[in-house]
Amino acid sequence: MSDYSDLYQQARDAATKAYAPYSGFRVGAVVVADDGRTFAGCNVENAAYGSGICAEGNAISTAAAAGVRKIGAVVIACLDAGECYPCGNCRQLMREFSVDTVVVQDGSGSLRTHEFAEILPHSFGPDSLEGKNG
Ligand code: THU
Repeated sequence: MSDYSDLYQQARDAATKAYAPYSGFRVGAVVVADDGRTFAGCNVENAAYGSGICAEGNAISTAAAAGVRKIGAVVIACLDAGECYPCGNCRQLMREFSVDTVVVQDGSGSLRTHEFAEILPHSFGPDSLEGKNG
């Protein structure tokens, strides 16, 4: 199994940049592309609350803008909570780029590694539009 501790620290570093004046809930994420490049993101809130973006979506969008179409892992750090899992919308964003592994903090100083299908079982993805199971 991979050691995600360095990537987790990068996600924590990203979380320190979070713009979260409304929730005070700082999140960072690092995605690892299939070519090994990594991209970080933090949550960015907005006075129009629904316009805010999550850390995972920010990192995934940054990777996509760099040409990435396949993501191996997403590593998530929350500075203001213990155990911390991605929201449903971010799980769906991950699905689009065929994420294999999601790494989260467990609230007691350790990391938990999940296969993506555990995080979003029976998912709807690109293949679903062609009538195939993802
Ligand atoms: N947030 C994330 O960045 N990622 C998640 O998966 C869950 C929630 C952010 C959104 C918002 O800025 C704050 O955390 C509180 O919901």
